[in-house]
Parts: sequence; structure tokens; C-alpha cells
Amino acid sequence: MRSSGSPALLAKDFERFGRELPRDFAGHVRDAYRIDLSARYLGRTIPHPIGKGSGQLSLNPGQLETDADAGLAFAVLKTVIAQDAGGVQSMAAWAIHETKMKVERRGDGWTVTWKGRGWDRSFDDYLALVRAARDLGRAGLLLAVPSVKYHLPRLHEPFRDAEYAFTTRALADAWGESPLLVEQDFSPTLAGDPLADEQAHILRWLQEAPDRIRAQAPVRLAMKLMNARFDDAFQLEMMEAARGADALVVFNRLFDPVANVAYGGGELSDRNLRVLQAVGPSGPRAVDLCGTGNIHTGRLILEYARRRCSSVQLHTCFQLPLEEYPAAAGSRTQRALHALVFHPRDGLIAGLLALEAQGVVSRRDGELHFLDIVDAHRAR
Ligand SMILES: Cc1cc2nc3c(=O)[nH]c(=O)nc-3n(C[C@H](O)[C@H](O)[C@H](O)COP(=O)(O)O)c2cc1C
Repeated sequence: MRSSGSPALLAKDFERFGRELPRDFAGHVRDAYRIDLSARYLGRTIPHPIGKGSGQLSLNPGQLETDADAGLAFAVLKTVIAQDAGGVQSMAAWAIHETKMKVERRGDGWTVTWKGRGWDRSFDDYLALVRAARDLGRAGLLLAVPSVKYHLPRLHEPFRDAEYAFTTRALADAWGESPLLVEQDFSPTLAGDPLADEQAHILRWLQEAPDRIRAQAPVRLAMKLMNARFDDAFQLEMMEAARGADALVVFNRLFDPVANVAYGGGELSDRNLRVLQAVGPSGPRAVDLCGTGNIHTGRLILEYARRRCSSVQLHTCFQLPLEEYPAAAGSRTQRALHALVFHPRDGLIAGLLALEAQGVVSRRDGELHFLDIVDAHRAR
């Protein structure tokens, strides 16, 4: 075993990778520290747990190529609004155009204030982006999956299957292999909509949507749950109701009904971690969890991992003013990954070594494994 855990090595790597992060930094971590960062997203093994959540940072192939160059583990494309063959979108109110985003401090964290919603270009343009994503995946450069907001009915209404059918089949064709990997987004603005005033509406969506989607094509489905405007117990009920999904992304941003905007920051990670901590022994154990919400250090990644999240998806952390990153060069994705993994106090390596020192995780055959943290808490 080489000098695993040496603070001197970590300090040196932090310094030199701040000038240029190697694309295969996970390989370096394995060789130099004997730490296996392998993680899981939607049933796929990925080299480390850090991905990019759906949003304004995955709108075009250029952004995906930058992420692939940086060695990001996965990216979720901007959410498209489902439509039928004639182009009718019952959720059209979510396809609005808004470019202005403001990155602001919120408590001791950050939030992005933005009034926009889903994909606002044509569905054909979205399919072209899915094909570009597919090609990056096939080349082994980046796993990048689409995200959809499907029709969500009121209780007495039927689901509009024509929108589920057209959208799912078109995405499956563009994806080109079976199964289609896809996220379904229940967004924070939906949480603020009168549609989501009734708990029974939301539970029905979560129970029934997976079958509606699966009826159209073979899919592996992640449902990205919202933070509904109810208590923590209801978040747990939502997780139970969504058992038909293969994975859950937990949980999208909070909604401020007064300012009429979604927001993140410390309040978001506090709520998410508190709810995930409360998932009891009878919780949905078979379902993979992917954490999201105010993740800006490796230590926070581990907090989500200790609550069974086998990967994480970040947005705000890839969008900060350049001077907020300790790296001196590189794309925002590279700079964020550099700090998240190699920061000598708050990074993933430092955090894993601290958990080893506390006896929370032990080496197997000389190696520490990120997924051991997740699976130890899964088996609890
Ligand atoms: C400007 C902006 C746009 C977003 N758009 C979407 C979206 O279209 N679909 C979605 O599932 N999540 C969307 N999100 C949520 C992010 O993917 C992420 O889950 C959430 O912001 C929490 O992570 P963070 O605190 O790291 O930003 C958006 C977030 C922001 C800030």
C-alpha cells in the first residue's frame, strides 16, 4: 500500500490539480490513496458519485463536452415538457422562456434565483441533444440522460397517455438502446402550483406515472421528487408512493410562495438530510437514491451517502462566481470537482479518511470504498 491518507499528499494534489485536474482523477485516487470512489446512478456503475442535475447547465452539446472533458460522472439534460404527436403539451405552462439567472448567497450557502421552467425550444431540438448525449455515452465519455415533465392530472381526470406515448417513444428512439434511462421531474414550481395542493393528487402521480411510462418503452426510471409544501412525514409518504421507480432523486429545491421562486441553500440540505435520516427500516430499500440539494463539499456528499444516496447531482455548485473556487484554472466543472474531491479539509478524500479514522468504514483488501458507506446504511 502506498502513502494512503497522507495529508501531505492531499495538500500536494490539491495544489497541483488546482492548475489542471486530470480527467481520470478517480483512477488517481484509487492508485495514490487506495480509495475506490465508484458509485451508482440509475443502476449504472460510475467512476465517482458526482453528477450534474438537470437545468440551465445541460442545454447544449458544448456544455456536455466540457463536462465530459472534466471527468464528470453523469449529467441530466434540461427537463423537456412532454407532448403528443400533434405537439400539444398539457404542461405547456412549464415551457416558458427566461434567461436571466442570479446567483446569490442564501444563509451560508448559495441559491440561484430564476423564473424560468422547462426546455423552451422545439422537441426536435431536444431529440438532437439526446442523440448528442447518447454519442458521448457510447464513446464512454459521459453518461447523460434526458429528463421529462409529463402530464399530471387532477384526481378526477385521466392521464393523457398520448403525451406519455409520443414523448417516451421518441426519446427511446433517440436513445437508441434498451432500456431508455430517463428522469421524471416533479419540479419545485409544481409544488407551488394549485395542482399540488392536494396530497392525494401527488401520491396518485407517484404511484401511477411509472406504469404509464413503462407501458410505452423499456425504461429505467428515476423520479426526481419535489419538496412538497407539506411536512417531513409527507416527504416519506411520497418516497413510499414512488416505489415503482428504479431510483429516486431526493429532493428538488424548496418553493417560496411569497417571492414565487424556487430556492436552495442550507435550508434545502437541512430538510433533505433530515427527511432521509427518517427513512425507517421499512423504507423503499430496493430503490437507488441520488441526493440533490446544496451540495458544495465532499463532506456533504458523504452526509447524503450515509443516508443511502449512491450518487449526487449538483447544480448551484457548478454555477458560482469563479473566485469562489480554490482552483486557479479550468472550467467551472473542473474547478468544482477539484474542490469537492481534493479539498484537504472538506473534500471527499479527507471526509472518507475521517470516517475511516472514526471506524465508520473499514478497508477491504487495503481499499476504502465509497459505496460501502452507502450500503452499510442501506443494510441497517
Ligand atoms: C436555474 C435552475 C434550473 C433548474 N432546472 C431544473 C430542471 O429543468 N429540471 C430538474 O429536474 N431540476 C432543475 N433544477 C434543479 C437542480 O437540478 C438541482 O436538483 C437543485 O437545484 C438542487 O441542487 P443544488 O442545490 O446543487 O442547485 C434547476 C435548478 C436551477 C438552479
